[in-house]
Amino acid sequence: MTQTSMQVCLSEPELAVLAEAMADLLTSGVCVALRGDLGAGKTTFARALVRALADDRDLEVPSPTFALRQDYETPRGLVVHFDFYRLTDAAEIIELGFDEAVSSGITIVEWPERAEMLLPADRIDMQLTEARTADCRKLRIDGHGAAETIVAKLAPRMQQG
Ligand SMILES: Nc1ncnc2c1ncn2[C@@H]1O[C@H](COP(=O)(O)OP(=O)(O)O)[C@@H](O)[C@H]1O
Ligand SMILES: [Mg+2]
Repeated sequence: MTQTSMQVCLSEPELAVLAEAMADLLTSGVCVALRGDLGAGKTTFARALVRALADDRDLEVPSPTFALRQDYETPRGLVVHFDFYRLTDAAEIIELGFDEAVSSGITIVEWPERAEMLLPADRIDMQLTEARTADCRKLRIDGHGAAETIVAKLAPRMQQG
């Protein structure tokens, strides 16, 4: 596992820059699991990531809180944004087509804790935590499997803040 964390606090625009750097490195099959409390900034980061992958700054990226799944056809292939918050058991996640989405493109998951056992081995775990001030977030990123190299390449960019 490749792990990188920073104590520095990242503002919303700074997180968007990180999302662009991550987007450049993501490949089909990798799952980005976004962890953190309600309001931590998971959807905000997912939106920046989808827009970067789609190469469209104005793309509408709604929170999948109710739809549970939003699909995007992008120049980088299929990108699927999931929110597992309202799901209670693994069967529902399978019904949503999670496995199929993972094998067909890039997946982004909010509340991955709901399906820990189903998460793929090639994965970026990103933990967003509220900081002392409301205008930024602390984060920690772990890379697993094929995503280890992605996190290793992102680490120096994070140190720059
Ligand atoms: N890095 C950040 N710094 C400061 N505020 C942020 C940051 N990321 C997100 N926010 C703000 O936090 C609020 C909740 O974000 P959201 O992405 O909806 O959280 P979540 O999906 O984790 O529930 C939004 O108002 C958003 O503008
Ligand atoms: Mg959200």
